Amino acid sequence: MNAPVAPPAVAEAVIDPRSYAEWTPALDLFDRLRAEGPVTRIESPTGEHEPFWLVTSYDEVMRISKDNATFLNAPRATVFTNKQGEAFARQVTKSQGEESPNLVSSLVVLDAPKHPKLRRLTQEWFMPKNLRSIEESIRELAARTVDRLVAAATGPDGQPAVVDFVPLVAAPYPLHVVMQILGVPEEDEPRMLFLTQQMFGGQDEELNKSGLAAMTPDQILQIVTGAVADFEAYFEGMAAQRRANPTGDVATILANATVDGEPISARDRAGYYIIVAAAGHDTTSASTAGAMLALARDPEQFARAKADRSLIPGIVEEAIRWTTPVQHFMRTAACDVEVGGVQIKAGDWLMINYVAANHDPAQFPDPRRFDASRPANRHAAFGAGAHQCLGLHLARLEMRLLFEALLDRIDSIELAGEPRRAKSTFVGGLKTLPLRITAH
Ligand code: HEM
Repeated sequence: MNAPVAPPAVAEAVIDPRSYAEWTPALDLFDRLRAEGPVTRIESPTGEHEPFWLVTSYDEVMRISKDNATFLNAPRATVFTNKQGEAFARQVTKSQGEESPNLVSSLVVLDAPKHPKLRRLTQEWFMPKNLRSIEESIRELAARTVDRLVAAATGPDGQPAVVDFVPLVAAPYPLHVVMQILGVPEEDEPRMLFLTQQMFGGQDEELNKSGLAAMTPDQILQIVTGAVADFEAYFEGMAAQRRANPTGDVATILANATVDGEPISARDRAGYYIIVAAAGHDTTSASTAGAMLALARDPEQFARAKADRSLIPGIVEEAIRWTTPVQHFMRTAACDVEVGGVQIKAGDWLMINYVAANHDPAQFPDPRRFDASRPANRHAAFGAGAHQCLGLHLARLEMRLLFEALLDRIDSIELAGEPRRAKSTFVGGLKTLPLRITAH
């Protein structure tokens, strides 16, 4: 079967970061494409992007994710980028001695045999059993975060003041947790945030404060190369400290890590820190804000959760599906292969779209409804297979502890304006969520 080729306007909508700021039209678009078939060919109307296969059905997204021998992460960019972005990454990495289409060498851009060896180093650390050792400190952080929210939500006259939940709670809370795990002291957090923004140059000008959008390619090359070097230097310093004074954190594991009897390289270590830092905050921030939006819109669901805390894990899981913070990853076909009846050639690029998969009505009845008691909520938001999210237990734990703390203090939530979403093809979600809250 020949896959449908998207008309130019549809291809443009899939590629354009602005489309993802308009949630309902984006979901409508994926529904229309999926109805025609699980795979659609996207050819960039301007020629700025390489063509790719967009995969929109839950079954095919899961099948591709689990078949890591046929669908590789390494050969081409793992996150959707334009030709210029990939050429840029190749230029930077070549100057560092190992040319790659991805700027940073981290778990998500590696395949076997190296990937499982590096992943194994921290896999145990991220399991629920070990996370219990940091649960108390996350609970304290959640309580402090809610204290701040409650203080801001009460105006000087004692009446509810409008607060923006995203910068006040959803963004700083997961960032702080992940920095604690990496051993970055609080005073260095802004520097880490700035470095990740410089490296990943967000697509939303309001969120990307590094100013890259206004620079020439040569200036950007210099800044990003500098940011990579800064990261490596920072984390090599930290690794030296941890070797001298080991603790139980991820920084200590990576400081002493060996693979095949050899210490891991500074570049692999920096990549590891960067992926954990980058993957661990915007994502959980988006699902946290999404859960709060759902509760604000549905006072009955909020009241039920307040009366029965055992409903919180269901709220957390549904929020992760409903928001799908990581909107896609890319794969490259290792050989000729059929996907959803369509012939894909070796070397072809595929976009596994988690937003489309998580809104596939064949898997999730009434997919746009937020339903915390959805049975067997086996969503695709954490991916599947060898690269399945390493931090998924941590993300769930963080969210559960935050919502326990929120439900302890908050009596009512009301939307106080239109929430706005980020313009981003990759990690999406709310960038503002104005609320009126009453609390005690
Ligand atoms: C709601 C929050 C989160 C979502 C939706 C999410 C989603 C994802 C997805 C879709 C992948 C790729 C899966 C695949 O290719 O099959 C991934 C990988 C990853 N995530 Fe998460 N993530 C979240 C939170 C976190 C947190 C809190 C951390 C760590 C502190 C983290 C660390 C990672 C790492 C290290 C990888 C790469 C794993 C690998 O390639 O082997 N994530 N995540």
